[in-house]
Amino acid sequence: MKVFVGWVVTYVLCLAVVKKMWSSRYLRSHLTRSLYMNMLSPNQAPYWEVSHQWYLCDKEKLSEDLEPIFIQSFLDQGTQTFLNRSIEKSGWLSIQLYHSFMSSVFSMFMSRTSINGLLGRGSMFVFSPEQFQRLLKIGPDWKSHRLLDLGAGDGEVTKVMSPHFEEIYVTEMSQTMIWQLQKKKYRVLHIEEWQRTGFQYDVISCLNLLDRCHQPVTLLKEMRSVLEPTRGRVILALVLPFHPYVENGGKWEKPSEIMEVNGSVWEEQVNSLAAVFQEAGFVVEAFTRLPYLCEGDMYNDYYVLDDAVFVLRPV
Ligand SMILES: C[S@@+](CC[C@H](N)C(=O)[O-])C[C@H]1O[C@@H](n2cnc3c(N)ncnc32)[C@H](O)[C@@H]1O
Ligand SMILES: *[C@@H]1O[C@H](CO)[C@@H](O)[C@H](O)[C@H]1NC(C)=O
Ligand SMILES: *[C@@H]1O[C@H](CO)[C@@H](O)[C@H](O)[C@H]1NC(C)=O
Repeated sequence: MKVFVGWVVTYVLCLAVVKKMWSSRYLRSHLTRSLYMNMLSPNQAPYWEVSHQWYLCDKEKLSEDLEPIFIQSFLDQGTQTFLNRSIEKSGWLSIQLYHSFMSSVFSMFMSRTSINGLLGRGSMFVFSPEQFQRLLKIGPDWKSHRLLDLGAGDGEVTKVMSPHFEEIYVTEMSQTMIWQLQKKKYRVLHIEEWQRTGFQYDVISCLNLLDRCHQPVTLLKEMRSVLEPTRGRVILALVLPFHPYVENGGKWEKPSEIMEVNGSVWEEQVNSLAAVFQEAGFVVEAFTRLPYLCEGDMYNDYYVLDDAVFVLRPV
């Protein structure tokens, strides 16, 4: 009982703080946006002022093989639409309060991913349709047979790729995310099943999964074994710097298999990853640097991580 009362008191206190923050958010968006925010925290500048950094690559630090196949990306309309929408959503006070309350209850026994799946929030953005097409060097009308999206999350990123495919297969670890994927009518395969269906896939996407699963090296080899061996392509995104850890319920664990990624800056880690992919039977055909965006909550308009996105060809 004491614990419960303590918890309620804490929550009310938090609400008071949020209310205070909220008035500043209101100020920021309606009155003296730039001035007021610069005083508060300089790194909360509007995205169109900071976003050019998200795409930068120092080509001199790339290895000889990789330098010519780097694709320069930029803040395009699809990315802006996601960001504008995310900023708008994080401004809906009652929904954000509800999400925050529910997460604090569920986080005692559920992973963050599963809570997001349950509440239908925290959608992610990797690439726009145009960015996807440029990476794969395909036109908007290009069609193929089978896509397999491993660790598809809520399926919002799958949706960007899906118009190009007749059949769309997905895998997920989190049950609440599986519900979201079934709602979107994707064919969900079990995480131990996709390697053994006997199908070959024209494109396999493995987006932001290698650093969140227990056996990244095995996963790469399994992808190689079910990929169509000549025209097939893997599209793989990885957050750098590489920090592998696996969500288990509400806890974080070290992965059971070690993937060797060395180097300190983005370009060096990319060079080292090319060797990892080669080991698994792939060669890098093209790659780019993109922001990995996540919808915000009541504290932030959006979240951003640093992605390297590769197109891999089987050898
Ligand atoms: C960071 S999210 C990426 C979601 C989406 N692909 C994206 O790029 O936004 C990683 C997802 O992989 C799932 N996952 C973790 N291990 C997995 C495994 N072995 N097989 C399939 N999915 C897995 C997690 O539940 C989580 O939803
Ligand atoms: C996003 O919002 C910015 C600033 O309000 C605006 O300039 C831009 O045109 C919007 N872009 C899209 C694609 O909605
Ligand atoms: C880092 O990886 C590169 C490429 O795989 C390799 O040539 C180099 O020896 C590695 N360095 C260390 C310190 O392991």
